[in-house]
Formats: sequence, C-alpha cells, structure tokens
Amino acid sequence: MPAEIIDGKKISTELRSDITKEISQIRSTHPHFNPKLVIIQIGDRPDSSTYVKMKLKSSEEVGIDGSLLKFDADIKQDDLLAKIDALNKDDSVHGILVQLPLPKHLDEELITNSVKQSKDIDGFSELNLAAIFKKNAVTKFIPCTPKGIMYLLNHEKVQITGKNVVVCGRSDIVGGPLAKLLEKEGGTVTVLHSKSTPEQVKLFCSHADILVSAVGKANFITKDLLKPGVVVIDVGTNFVPDATRKSGRRMCGDVDFQGCSEVASKITPVPGGVGPMTVGMVLHNLLESAKKANG
Ligand code: GUN
Repeated sequence: MPAEIIDGKKISTELRSDITKEISQIRSTHPHFNPKLVIIQIGDRPDSSTYVKMKLKSSEEVGIDGSLLKFDADIKQDDLLAKIDALNKDDSVHGILVQLPLPKHLDEELITNSVKQSKDIDGFSELNLAAIFKKNAVTKFIPCTPKGIMYLLNHEKVQITGKNVVVCGRSDIVGGPLAKLLEKEGGTVTVLHSKSTPEQVKLFCSHADILVSAVGKANFITKDLLKPGVVVIDVGTNFVPDATRKSGRRMCGDVDFQGCSEVASKITPVPGGVGPMTVGMVLHNLLESAKKANG
C-alpha cells in the first residue's frame, strides 16, 4: 500500500484558521489588540524575498499586522543592530524576524542574538535555543521548522516514545533542536551529518521508525535505505532541472518521494509538507508573544 501523504498545506490552513479565530475573539473584548510582526530583510535574494512575501501574506490573512524593513545588502552591522535595538524597545512590536541568510559581512550569531528573547519568534537566539536543552526551562520560542514538524507528528498521532528516530542534519535551527525535541518526547534519536559515512547512513536509516531529512540534497533518501512502515519527514528545499517547467527547474526535497512512498507508512511531500508548517508556526509564535505582552 502506498504511504499516506501528510498534507502540511491542509494542516497549516487549519492551524491558521484557528489563529484567525483566536485573534478576532480576543479583539471582540480587547479592540486594541494588534499583534505586530516586523520582518527584516537585508539585500534582494530572490529566495528570501519569496519566503518574506509568504510570511507577510499569511500574517495579513490571520489578522497580524506584518511589515517589512528592507535594507541594502551593504548595511553596516552597527546600523542594523541599532534598528533591532529600537524594535526591541518598541512595545507595539511583538515579534522581530531577521530573514536568513545574511550577507557575509554581517555576523549572523551576533544579529540573531540581538533580538530580545521575548520577541524572538524565530527562536534563533542562544537563550531560546539553549532553553530547549534544559529539562524544565520555560522555552519562550521553539524554532518554527522543528516546532512545525513536532506539530505534524502529533497531528498524525505518530508515536515517538520507544521508537528509533533518525535525524539527518545537525544545523542549529533545524536538525539540532529537532533531535532534542524528539528525544524529550521519548524517541531514541540518532543524528546523522556530513561526517557520517555512507555505511552509517545505511545502517541507521534501515532501523528508523521515524526518519527526518534536513540536509539539502535532492535524492539523499532513497527507498533502499528505508525500513518498511517508516514515517518520513522531508525538510529539504532543493531545485533540480526540469525542462517541462517554464522556470526550467522544479522544487524537491531530500527524499525520492515516488520511491519512498512505496515503502513508508506516512510521508511529507515537497512542496506542501513541512514548509507551510514553518510559516504557520511563525504566526503561532507571534500570537503567543502578543498575548503575553498584553497580559
Ligand atoms: N531562512 C530560511 N529559513 C528561515 C527561517 O525559518 N527563518 C528565518 N528568519 N530565515 C530563514
């Protein structure tokens, strides 16, 4: 039987509809409740512009006041830090999102850390990331992609406790925090990364009950690697040549979707899987921040 497709687009639409309802409900008793998101974009990377547009459009749809602060790619680091500082101090702003990646002359660590923890709805600051690794810490914001994946697994009633979980990729904002979240939910987690050997990839993937790939390589996960019945979550955003498209290319994940669908029990597509959940969680985190700010 082919795998059931986990429809992230539909699940995210439901989540966004819940957010819309909650905002209008709060407004019915607090007319001045105005959740506000500021997105900072440096330069003109087309991929960043696409993501930013998506986040602003979704914000508007749910009733979040989203705005874009766009700066030239050669902005001085001190000027950017001063802008962020002003937004940190502005009580009308509930979330500040600095779209990554940044131009090379800017220190990404320093800049993501300069966003006040209570407004860091991306969850990229050290304080928010570190909180994930503490047992009882009150985590302010969990990064949106790992949070979206946990939401998907929960929505699909995928049992994590007692399962073999493999996360491919160990980035600070996806693989690293996700592995910890899955472990906290009782999974026995193995993290594979760029220094893992092909033999290790084969060995650990073949035992995985849940397999997440966030490495950014098309066809990294093929069906021969999989244990029958595995749940596959594809975080990859890659582009491969496709002469049938006007653009000459097609978006795909890390997973050979066609082949792996023959072996997995559930699988996320790309596009339409994890991506929409990331956007949904930006809105979710922003609403939580605005609610806290308004007591
Ligand atoms: N660049 C790619 N993904 C993301 C994301 O989730 N947040 C931000 N701020 N930048 C990104």
